[in-house]
Parts: sequence; C-alpha cells; structure tokens
Amino acid sequence: MAKPVHIINGPNLNLLGTREPEIYGTTTLADIEALCEARLKTHGLDMGFFQSNDEGEIVALIQAARQQASGVVINAAAYSHTSVAILDALQTLTAPIMEVHLSNIYARESFRHHSHISQIATGVICGLGAQGYEMAIDALAARLKD
Ligand code: DQA
Repeated sequence: MAKPVHIINGPNLNLLGTREPEIYGTTTLADIEALCEARLKTHGLDMGFFQSNDEGEIVALIQAARQQASGVVINAAAYSHTSVAILDALQTLTAPIMEVHLSNIYARESFRHHSHISQIATGVICGLGAQGYEMAIDALAARLKD
C-alpha cells in the first residue's frame, strides 16, 4: 500500500466559499477535501488534508511529508509568491509535487505571476477551480504507478 498523498493548503483558503466568490467560486475547503478524498479513493490512495495560515506550520507540514507522504499537492496561496522557506522545504522532498491554484494567477495582478514553487513542482495547474486538485491527484497517481 502506497503512503498517503498529502494535500497542503495555505493562508485564507479556510475561507473558501465566502472569500471573494467572484474569483474563487463558492466551493468550500470542506468540499475540496471531500472531492480529493473521493478522487484518491478511485486510485486506491489515502489522504492527509491540511490547511494553515502560518508559514512555519506549512514548512513543518512539508517536512512531515518527507517521511509520511508518497506525493504532495500544494496550494500555498499567497506564500507561493513570497516564501523561500516553503520552496526550501519542498526542495527536500523526493516525492512528486503538484502545485495547484484555483484561480488563473497569470490573469491577475502581476505580483501573482511568479510562484517560487513552480520551479521545483512536477506539474502546475491553475485556473480550473477545485477540478485542478482532482487533475493534480490523477497526475500524481499516474506517476506513483510508474
Ligand atoms: C491562490 C492564488 C494566490 O495568488 C492567492 O494569494 C490565493 C489563492 C489560488 O488558489 O488561486 O490565496 O493560490
């Protein structure tokens, strides 16, 4: 049995559903958690699902994934654009990393166009809402089978 896939969500994603619905839609983080769990199940994979508003806690979650996860899906939210600490932590992983953003960060303010994470991610998906998490899971599962 493969280790679980860890899904790590960054700041303000706990507010999904009511946060800027014109950008992020009305899907809640609990909805996304349920979608991810169901999708992973179709691949016979277990899930760890996390959210934190704290940069250091996200670093700790990534460090835990080194031993505990077979792959990581991460939406580091605003920290994607600012955090070298999160990049450094992700660089210590040997498991595949999928970067997800609900919105199309390239169609938004220029400060969102660069993500520190993208340079080390196996794949990057943005602009597809919650479906992006499902696609990331499918892509991870395919790589874990290889
Ligand atoms: C986000 C995009 C980021 O620019 C933003 O700071 C977020 C969410 C997304 O999922 O579209 O909080 O990562």
